[in-house]
Amino acid sequence: MYKLIDGKAHSRALRQEIAEGVAQYKKNYGKDIGLAVVLIGDDGASQVYVRNKIKGCGEVGIKSYAHYLPADTTQSQAEELVGGLAADPAIHGILVQLPLPAGLDAQKILSLIPVEKDVDGFSESNIGNLCLNNNCLVACTPNGVMKMLEREGIQINGKNAVVVGRSNIVGKPMAMLLLNADATVTVCHSKTRNLKEICSSADILVAAIGRAKYITADMVKDDAVVIDVGMNRDENGKLCGDVDFENVKDKCSYITPVPGGVGPMTITMLLYNTLAAAQRSVQIG
Ligand code: GUN
Repeated sequence: MYKLIDGKAHSRALRQEIAEGVAQYKKNYGKDIGLAVVLIGDDGASQVYVRNKIKGCGEVGIKSYAHYLPADTTQSQAEELVGGLAADPAIHGILVQLPLPAGLDAQKILSLIPVEKDVDGFSESNIGNLCLNNNCLVACTPNGVMKMLEREGIQINGKNAVVVGRSNIVGKPMAMLLLNADATVTVCHSKTRNLKEICSSADILVAAIGRAKYITADMVKDDAVVIDVGMNRDENGKLCGDVDFENVKDKCSYITPVPGGVGPMTITMLLYNTLAAAQRSVQIG
């Protein structure tokens, strides 16, 4: 019998802890924690994400500063905005929603976010820190997966973990976090041979591919922990993950649903990182 990992419940419990941390910070230091959210252009999905991030801030008592810029924003205008936020002591975290409109150099803009305000964990410095297993701000989706595994009491040490997908914002940091937690990690991608055999060896299987129901039951070992990072539409337009949930679930010891699994944790981890960034800013002065 599998156990469903309830991302909504974990997210609620964690937001409660974050809200307490934010209140304590305000009491100790007599000031707000500030998160700047930058949205450039009119991508529909990004607008929804940003709205939910701002709503999440309100829920835990973090002050959000929204900056909406038009799609024809120039590179120097975007850099000027982010540069200003970088220097603003009221801002503890800066988030630039991706993707940026064509013509803008995202990496150059992200590089202006100081490492200590990089609450998305996308900067080159924080990715390097993660590789070195230094205490740092970590990308929200993979960090949320680790939090759920930890809260479920799932052992990682010594386990075979397979990550399917090698994106900079999920697959790569996910693999590094599992490695730092002493798993034996394999990363698979579109050119991987024997995908089925490799996935079948996984005690912990993380699917971050972006293809509906791609992971089928024959690719999953008995009693595996299956984490589905996907967010797709199936043939009927219904939201679904990268895992063929209905056919896979009975083989698992734990599995995350879509929706209601990894998704709710992502924004919660942004709030978590923002609190951590603010706490660190007072520790280092
Ligand atoms: N676009 C898709 N996911 C993310 C995310 O986690 N952070 C930002 N900034 N942009 C995204």
